[in-house]
Amino acid sequence: MKHIAIFGYGVVGGGVTSVIEENREAIARAVGDDVNVKYILDLRDFPDSPYGGRVVHDASVILDDPEIRLIAETMGGSHPAYELSIEALSRGKHVVTSNKEVVANFGDQLLACAAEHGVSYLFEASVGGGIPVIRPFLTSLAGDTVVGISGILNGTTNFILSKMKSEKRDFSDVLAEAQVLGYAERDPSADVDGIDAKRKIMILSALATGVLPEDVDVYAESISKITPEDVSAAERAGRVIKLVGSFRLEKGSPAIYVCPQMVKLDDVLASVNDVYNAIRVKCSVTGDVMFYGRGAGRFPTAGAVTADIVAALSGAAAAERAPVFTKKSGAVADFDKVRFSYYIRLADASPSDAEEDLSRYFDRVECVPGSPVGKAEYICGEASGKELRAFTSSRDDVESVIRLAE
Ligand code: HSE
Repeated sequence: MKHIAIFGYGVVGGGVTSVIEENREAIARAVGDDVNVKYILDLRDFPDSPYGGRVVHDASVILDDPEIRLIAETMGGSHPAYELSIEALSRGKHVVTSNKEVVANFGDQLLACAAEHGVSYLFEASVGGGIPVIRPFLTSLAGDTVVGISGILNGTTNFILSKMKSEKRDFSDVLAEAQVLGYAERDPSADVDGIDAKRKIMILSALATGVLPEDVDVYAESISKITPEDVSAAERAGRVIKLVGSFRLEKGSPAIYVCPQMVKLDDVLASVNDVYNAIRVKCSVTGDVMFYGRGAGRFPTAGAVTADIVAALSGAAAAERAPVFTKKSGAVADFDKVRFSYYIRLADASPSDAEEDLSRYFDRVECVPGSPVGKAEYICGEASGKELRAFTSSRDDVESVIRLAE
């Protein structure tokens, strides 16, 4: 019997106990032994749960127990997840996690600590929920060079943008529905403002380059300013608005950013809807590789955590190459210098004046067909953030600016 503990009995932690129960035989076959959830660490009590008797409030009970081989950390947040994970790894216990915040902020230290103590730190569930994407980076793509990543990395925002388009509703209305359905948190800012997707693209970038970017070097922009007019304009331009996390090489340095982007309809990312996620990895040898599936939710995420439990306890993870992340300042391209094409909407503009003005800043200016009365809409390219700002600050009628996906 191999004994494990779960830190955090929330949506994902509760899902892990269910998956272990439901797939007991398959998991025992894969691990070569039965797996038992001996403890659950949580601040709360769960008197009505069949696991209620295993709940402890003091982490040292678990950390001091030599029978505990592995911790599944599903607490979320940086602290105390980071401190508890370091302590568990230092005591020779494997740690697996769904917590993208702690991996994005401290993945370098956690992986180094695991390597030092001869155990695994695994985080498949931290990106793309149930989609296997972390392990393929380390195995199947190990002989390749990743030169680009574009991903729909947040289920909640993809649900909101999909509904805004298909049901012609506004942002706050669909956000309220996402909260009722349990997709968005009561404080939805980590999802809506691109913070959650930013953590995920930071982790993928680290897998691609070995360098874990600093949080402040990665640009993130909210979807909260997207309006039904923007959604309609995208449709008329043959595009759709998605929150995309991107990694691309800009004069040799990685540019890493998350922002609403107008994606062409013939791009596979355009047809990824609702809470689904998709990640396109551009490799120098293999070309484009796509990963697609359920990016959020109790069971897809718990399934990925359980797969890591099996990998650690069966010894499969020890036989694989573990990633090494380092932090290096100045490793990320200055986002202000990254060049994009843009959708730009002006209010109360006379087209002849607007086009003349735009062509001073952008070498390509095309009208979007079917603009609403009193509005002028353009696709303009290409310019850096600095050049765009020079244009927007020169006029007081700029109503909307959205970047175009490559
Ligand atoms: N809030 C996240 C999402 C959960 O909506 O994608 C999965 O990381």
